[in-house]
Amino acid sequence: MNKKWWKESVVYQIYPISFMDGNGDGVGDLRGIMSKLDYLKDLGVDVLWICPVYKSPNHDNGYDISDYQDIMKEFGTMDDFDRLLKEAHMRGLKIMMDLVLNHTSDEHPWFIESRASEDNPKRDYYIWRKGKNGGPPNNWESYFSGSVWQYDETTDEYYLHLYSKHQPDLNWENEKVIDSMHEMVEWWLKKGVDGFRFDAIAHIVKAVGLPDGENPNHLPTVRAYELFSNLENVHTLLNNLYKSVLFHYDIMTVGETSGLGPEQALSYVGDTRNELNMVFQFEHMQLDAASGGSGKWNLRPWNLLELKKVMSNWQTVMHEQGWNANYWCNHDQPRSISRFGDDSQYRVESAKMLATFIHMLEGTPYIYQGEEIGMTNIAFQSIDDYRDVETLNFYEEQMNQGVPEEQIMEVIWKKSRDNARTPMQWNKSEEAGFTKATPWIRVNSNYPLINVEDALKDPDSIYYYYKKLIALRKQHEVIVYGKYELLLPLDTQIYAFTRTLGDVCLLVILNFFGEEPELNLPSKLHLSSKELLISNYSIKGDDELSTTVRLHPYESRVYMLKA
Ligand code: GLC
Ligand code: CA
Repeated sequence: MNKKWWKESVVYQIYPISFMDGNGDGVGDLRGIMSKLDYLKDLGVDVLWICPVYKSPNHDNGYDISDYQDIMKEFGTMDDFDRLLKEAHMRGLKIMMDLVLNHTSDEHPWFIESRASEDNPKRDYYIWRKGKNGGPPNNWESYFSGSVWQYDETTDEYYLHLYSKHQPDLNWENEKVIDSMHEMVEWWLKKGVDGFRFDAIAHIVKAVGLPDGENPNHLPTVRAYELFSNLENVHTLLNNLYKSVLFHYDIMTVGETSGLGPEQALSYVGDTRNELNMVFQFEHMQLDAASGGSGKWNLRPWNLLELKKVMSNWQTVMHEQGWNANYWCNHDQPRSISRFGDDSQYRVESAKMLATFIHMLEGTPYIYQGEEIGMTNIAFQSIDDYRDVETLNFYEEQMNQGVPEEQIMEVIWKKSRDNARTPMQWNKSEEAGFTKATPWIRVNSNYPLINVEDALKDPDSIYYYYKKLIALRKQHEVIVYGKYELLLPLDTQIYAFTRTLGDVCLLVILNFFGEEPELNLPSKLHLSSKELLISNYSIKGDDELSTTVRLHPYESRVYMLKA
């Protein structure tokens, strides 16, 4: 058992623009975060992952960086950052930076120089190519719709951007880019930050020669993700970064790596790889999207058997080989209760059940801001209220293709990244206590019902349930290191599993739906010496656990069994 502090930690993700406005201009900021450190400490989390706060023109809320060593003016100053880091450390909270190494902003001085002329010394910091047959150099489609290539008149060439056209991809084949990146990462480490979430890290290497993706239907662009995701050289680059910089610091690292299964993920996080501590996988995020077509926007219902298959596979493959990062939600995903639970009748029950799942798996649990009070999706009637570049590009593309607007909006309500980006709901006052001004994006109108202030007053709230889950992790090693085993693999409503460490066995029972199914446990479990650690219902009388028991809607229970 390879013990590490980052395995024993719980991470809380902050999306600064929507967390707390400290100076009354409608935009969240560093002082706002500072004012909530005691709240976070009290919840019991260990690490704060802070989404990008670097200088940025904000085409993608900070994921388009124009200066890696400066702070976005809307968020404050470097002094504010230093104070935040100090204040966090004083409370025993660590800070994990979100760092974008795949691309910069098109307003980064490197890119301004790069686009100036073909012989500019910074030209090769980015990926430039001549057009082909009057069009772009290849047929790759951007994550944010349309071609990955943007034509630039000055030099009559195209530059590559996997995300928006304001996010040109860096050229990691250029030693100077690599050196600058290493230096910059080290600069932050010397400041004392405690780790990094490496954004879009799977994509820093593109297939040699930038070949066309397969295109049997002759579409203008195709999702050729395999030509720029998880290629072998990404590992060489990460290994170099590790050896020359990361290795010298006691930090935690997590990579954003879409498009892989656990076996492949081991090449990033395997104990012997010296690359990253853990990666965010996306297989469970794809369970409600049909393959092909418009990707994540192509809705289909998810089902529990598929979820079990995906999660069990990650649990099994990673055990004692690597480490998982477990999450339901982040700033790119819809709200978890609206997606995997029930955000109306059983909002509280399903929020607690979903939380139990993430916190009882092997791996580091991630909480996304607002999850701890059960925040839900929004459904703005007008596209004008949406802010997310991915959503706006999708809307425009679909409108151009003649798709009826109601149909587009239905999909946006389910999948838009803005679902998770509405302001944190602190209290019942106007704008949910997030700001005294008009917020940059509208607050969810359910804030009078769902807010931190009320959650703190109610001992049965989702907030206190999270607090208890986190506290349990600190009390029982089996929650951190126990080996996972799936029970009842064919049950379509109940997800049950055990975690075992030595002679201690944790039994986790989760009803994923609003019905009341009967639970039939295998007889091999030693139910004679059981202790209930946590549940979202009060368990007494007929509800006491035996091999057969009927579960309540969205019920969750965790027992400790001793052999
Ligand atoms: C990652 C981020 C997302 C961002 C994209 C481009 O996927 O999580 O928010 O838009 O990278 O940087
Ligand atoms: Ca502000």
